[in-house]
Formats: sequence, structure tokens, C-alpha cells
Amino acid sequence: MKNIDAKGHVTGKSIYVDDIPTINGTLYGVIFDSPLAHGHIESVDYSKALTLPGVITILTHEDIPGENQIGGIIPDEELFASKDVHFAGQPIALIIAESNQIGFEARKLIDINILEKEVIVDPREAQKKDQLILPPRTFELGDTENSWEKCAHIFEGQADSNGQEHLYIETQGAYAIPLENGHIRISSSTQGPTAVQRITARVLNMGMNKIEVDVVRLGGGFGGKEDQATPWAVMAALGVQILNKPVKVILSRMDDMRLTGKRHPYSSDYKIGFSKDLKIMAYETTFFQNAGAAADLSPAVMERTLFHATNSYFIPNVKATAYSCKTNLPPNTAFRGFGGPQGMFVIESALAHAAQELGVSAYQLQKNNLLKNGNEFPYGQIADGVELTKIWSEMESKFDIEAVEKEINYFNSSNTDIKKGFSLMPVTFGISFTKTPMNQARALVHIYTDGSVGVSTGAVEMGQGVNTKMLQITAQVFSLDPKRVRLESTNTTRVANTSPSAASSTADLNGKALHQACSALLERLKNCAADHFGAQSKDIEIKSETIYCQGERTDIRWNDLVLMAFLKRICLTENGHYATPRINFNMEKEKGHPFAYHVYGLALTEITVDCIRGTSQFDSVKIVHDFGKTMNPSVDFGQIEGGLVQGIGWMTMEEISYNDKGQLLSNSLSTYKVPDIYSVPKDVIIEPLKTEGNDMAILKSKAVGEPPLMYGIGAYFAIENAVRAFNPNFNSTFDAPFTHEKILMGLYEISESERVDS
Ligand code: MTE
Ligand code: HPA
Ligand code: MOS
Repeated sequence: MKNIDAKGHVTGKSIYVDDIPTINGTLYGVIFDSPLAHGHIESVDYSKALTLPGVITILTHEDIPGENQIGGIIPDEELFASKDVHFAGQPIALIIAESNQIGFEARKLIDINILEKEVIVDPREAQKKDQLILPPRTFELGDTENSWEKCAHIFEGQADSNGQEHLYIETQGAYAIPLENGHIRISSSTQGPTAVQRITARVLNMGMNKIEVDVVRLGGGFGGKEDQATPWAVMAALGVQILNKPVKVILSRMDDMRLTGKRHPYSSDYKIGFSKDLKIMAYETTFFQNAGAAADLSPAVMERTLFHATNSYFIPNVKATAYSCKTNLPPNTAFRGFGGPQGMFVIESALAHAAQELGVSAYQLQKNNLLKNGNEFPYGQIADGVELTKIWSEMESKFDIEAVEKEINYFNSSNTDIKKGFSLMPVTFGISFTKTPMNQARALVHIYTDGSVGVSTGAVEMGQGVNTKMLQITAQVFSLDPKRVRLESTNTTRVANTSPSAASSTADLNGKALHQACSALLERLKNCAADHFGAQSKDIEIKSETIYCQGERTDIRWNDLVLMAFLKRICLTENGHYATPRINFNMEKEKGHPFAYHVYGLALTEITVDCIRGTSQFDSVKIVHDFGKTMNPSVDFGQIEGGLVQGIGWMTMEEISYNDKGQLLSNSLSTYKVPDIYSVPKDVIIEPLKTEGNDMAILKSKAVGEPPLMYGIGAYFAIENAVRAFNPNFNSTFDAPFTHEKILMGLYEISESERVDS
């Protein structure tokens, strides 16, 4: 089945929040935010702004009837700054005006006086000053301390990765309208409708049952709308509560870039030790996560960094420590991979470092240390269903890694101004929210008397194709023409207490709940048919909308049966509930079985570097990926391609830049470069691994949303490889992104002795 949204997207008919027809009298909210990254608010003068024609009011912390608190995991973030500001871009007030333009004009007329305080932007500096979001955490396996003396080779270093702007095409926004009795309906571009509902209820001091949150779809989320879609929705709802008028808040692109958090930059230390036969004996790493000025999702992101610190390798002795460091940047947040990519970048850097010093190819070290069934992860889960060895052999047989290496070496020896490089990037990614209670979902299914079906789940469509998958599940269970099924918007009144659509788990969790609801309805209908034919329900089958009894085709069609059931007063509505079995995690011991299963894969990246200009071009990325049994190859392949390119962007060109005053310099699309069609690898080949799939995955089709992003990490090491082919003096810095500027500097970097000579 094609993605059901494809046609609407390319014809421009798909509806996003800002496309919802506005009700007469709708007002527009523009956020007034802090110009400075840290300080005490001495005074704010709104008087000039308030006199501008078309300005209705300006809301501040003083207008909040409930709690001025939007923190999800830790209550440490105000909706509107009351006394102090902690990052540039922190909301202080909401200007409500008759148009956005008037709101923007009014914003220029606000005078603010802030007593500046010391600004910290560096996570290591924050850690030294004990500015932490929460106490550090350590995952440990074996005994690293007593392992070092047994190691034949030990390497130490530092690896840093920068943040990443989500750049969803639809910016953050919400539209809230008043209903009777003071109730409010919010249309929000959020991955977490329940988060919006919960925090709105808290800030507005009303019951969650009086707030309805509706989501049709998102023009991309990528984690940026898991928690950070909430404040704008709350602000719009606050405007409704105070003015009893509809209020829309849609961020402009530059406001969105300045006000919201991004992927967490990390600075990390590593120490890795090998035996004589190049088995990794011990690995120690310390992560300094740049959390920004409030917790947001940082504790959970930090936890996933620890979970993925050893990526696809078995290491018997591991000690991984993580600090979530409080800085004066906008609170950083979920971003595809959720801390996993940052952890993996460090171990891959450690391996690349070791390979250089040992004079071997990094892929030999990688292959030599792959995780196998029965191995223990540092967090206690025992690996099973590991596909890495099979994936590696598949890559070798399809694409002959050694031949690629030889060809590249030959190319490099016969070319002076262009050099090629390659890398392998294995990925092992755990599927489940790491917080066990979040792994639950519900679905509500109605069969109407004409035989058509309406489906609501907690899943939010953000481009990942989850609605298509939900439609497929329904059509498959009922053996129904998909045209008969309607996917409803995601709505807190129909499906309550939802987890955000995140952790790549949306299709699994909601799909399993939906499957259960549909199966229950099917059983009910079969019973009804069995009654009619004087048979048993096991004798009844429904195939392509026709009812079969004991293998014989009957003249009863799906619609007839549905109507029959209705007339017999059989309930044609069902609610499904799913909670992932088996998973658990004990935070005191830092051990457990947090993941339903893992997704595995391997990417082979080939690159050409122009050694005159410092530019790079990806020749190809070849991927062997474990989809399980993919239920929709076109959707799933799309996820691989999108994830890969987003990962390549993070590793090679997307360069978030704050100055030391905490102000965002890369604050628009002219100063922040994301991959375009020209930066995409010329060839992306995806080979699905032949495998049985996993029963914990919906229809054995494994989660696919986040894992492919980490294939992009291979880009960094492929470039590094090519740069070294040109300049043997190049010193790896393991400092992503590897931008064209850094490539150029690396190509012409001179050795210490040359530097002294000159
Ligand atoms: N794909 C598109 N097109 N747009 C998105 O916003 N988000 C990613 C991934 N793929 C995203 C996407 C992220 S961060 C996650 S967690 C998953 O999709 C969420 O959807 P899933 O759970 O259905 O995989
Ligand atoms: N992944 C994504 N989002 C989350 C998670 C997770 O593991 N935990 C809480 N939110
Ligand atoms: Mo995805 S970062 O879990 O929204």
C-alpha cells in the first residue's frame, strides 16, 4: 500500500494546523522572548506595545491561574519567565493581536531591562561548577579498573558531537478555540497530545477532561515536538481562557529556531583497551551532555546515551558515566535517536582512533567485536535475536568490503587531488521507551452500519507513515478494502492518556492495540455469522468482504453481516489496549530488560573528497537492514533514506552555532545548512535482511523510525579516511560535524615538526 498521505502532500491538500480554517474573531499570539541568556529581569515596559492599534493584550506570568510550570520530567521550567531568564529565547510574554504582523510590530516596542549574569554554554564548564540537571548516572559491566593492566593496547581521547536543528517543515504552532462552559479545544502540531493536555490543565488550573487536544498530522516532528510543542499550545489556550476568543500561535521560522531546543551537543572522553588479538577488553567513557537551561527530556536522552554507549559490540568490562549539564542554552530535547547517536559516535571514534594507531582497518576491529546472542549489555539485558553477524556476511557477499577497500586504495594511489574514503557503521538500537510505563497504547474502532470503519489510536502521523500502517492493520484483520477504513485524527477525547509518538514505537504500541480491538470485533462478527448459519465461529472466515462458512462461500457480504450484527444489538465498537510484556528496568541497580527487542543494521559509506576545495560527495551508501518482515516496504525504505540523510546532515554540514553569550548565530536557513538533493549520496542501496522478524513487533515488522539515522555516523569516518589518504599528518579531532571547512583544514594541516620548522 502506498503512503495514504502521498497524494495530499504533493497536491498541497494535506491539512496542517495553520491550514485549519479560522473562526471569525481569531486572534494571533506572538512570543516576546529574552534577548539575553542569563540574568535578572529588573523591569519590562509593555506600555508602548499595548497602545499599538490591533494589540489586544499582553499575557505574562501574572496572568496564569494555575502553575507557571511546564517541566515534564523535572518541574524546572516556567511557561513565562517571572524573575530570572536562563536562556536567550526564553518566553517572557505573549502578545495577542489582531494579526501576526501587528504582534511582531508590538514586540519591537517592548522595553526590557535585564541585569546580566554569568553565561555558561560549555557542558564541561557547567559540570565543573556543579551545574547539573540531575545527579550523574553510571552503567557498569565487569570491572574496567582491573582490566587495563591486561590490555595489550590502550587508547584515550575525546569525541564531540554538535547539536542539530530539527527543521521540521511545519514550524511549531497551535490553534485553540473556546467551547461552552469554559472548555477548550486545541489543535496542536504535537507528537504528544496528552502532554499538551496535561500541561495546559496544570497551567490553566482546570481538569484534563475539559481540554481536548486534536492532531491531524505534523509536517515533521523528529522529536522536536515530543515535549516542545507544548508551550505554544498552552499559551494559545491561556489566551482563550482569558479572552474567550480563538487564539492561534504559529512560530515564524526564525522564532522557532531561536526559541526551541535541539539535539543535545555532547563532549565525551573515552578510554578503550584491546587484547593482543584485538578484542575489546575494556571501555570507559564519560559523557557531558549539554542539556541547556532546563531538564526537558534530557534525563531520558542521557539514559539512552548510556544504553547505546557500546553500540553493536560486546565488551566484557564497561564503565559509562553521564552528566546532564545545565547551560544557558534553550533546553535541548528529543531528536531522532534520542541520545543514542551521541553515544555511538564516541565508541566509533574510539575504534577509529585505535585502528589508526594499530595500522589496521577500522572495520576489522568492528567485525572482530560484534555482539552475539547471549552477550550481556552493560544494562543487564541479554542479547537475543542478534542479526549482526548475518548482516555482516550479507554485506560482504553482496558488496565485498575488501574489494571496496582495495579499489579505494588503488584509486588513492593513482590520484593526487581527489581521494576516496569509506567506512562501515553497524547499528544496534533498542526498541521501547526506556521508561517502562510509557510502553502502552490504546485504539478505538467503530464499525458503522454501512460496513465502513473508523479508527482512532494514540499514534500521531508526522510523515513516518504510521497512519498507513494503522490502515493496513485494520484492512488486514477484517479483510476489507482499505478504502472502507478511515483514520481519524489523534484526539485526547477518543484515546486518552497516550504516550507521545516517539521512541520508534508508535506503530508497534498503537498497532498492537488496534490489532487487538479489530480482532475482538472480528470475533464478535464471526459469532454472529455462526449463529446465522447454525455453525461455530471457528467455521466462519471473512475473505475480501465475503463470508465463508466451513470453507464455502456464502452470499453474505461484509456489509450484510455488519447490519445483521447491529440489528441483533451487538456492539460494533471496541477499545484495544496494549502494554509491552516482559520489559523492566531498575534504576537503582541500573540493570534490567528495558527493550522489547533490538533493530540491527550495517551501512557501507563511500565518499570522494576534492582535496583542492575541501568539498566532499557521497558516492554511495549500501545498507543491510533488519526490518523483520516489513509490512510496508515503500514506507520503511523511505524511513531508511530519510534517516540516513538526516544523520549525514548532522555529521557533515549542519552546524549549530551559539556565541559565548548564548545567542544563536545559525538562526535562519541562510546560516544553517541541511542536506539538499545535491548532498544526497548518488546511490543508496537498501538490502533487507532475510529474517523471521520478531513477535514483539507489529506483524513482525520491526520499528524503523530512528535506527537509520545512525547510519549517517559512517559519513564522518569515511571523510576522515579520505582526508588521511591525502594528508598522513592529519590529526583526528573527532569533532562532528566534519564540515567542508574542517575538511580543508584537515587536508592541509601540518605536522608538529613542520610547524616548528616554519
Ligand atoms: N519520519 C518523518 N517523515 N517525520 C518525522 O517527524 N520522526 C522520527 C521517525 N521518522 C519522523 C520520521 C522519529 S524521531 C521517531 S521517534 C519516529 O519516526 C516516530 O514514529 P514511529 O514511532 O512511528 O517510528
Ligand atoms: N525515546 C523517545 N522518547 C522518549 C523516550 C525514549 O526512550 N523516553 C521518553 N521519551
Ligand atoms: Mo523520536 S526522538 O523518539 O520523537
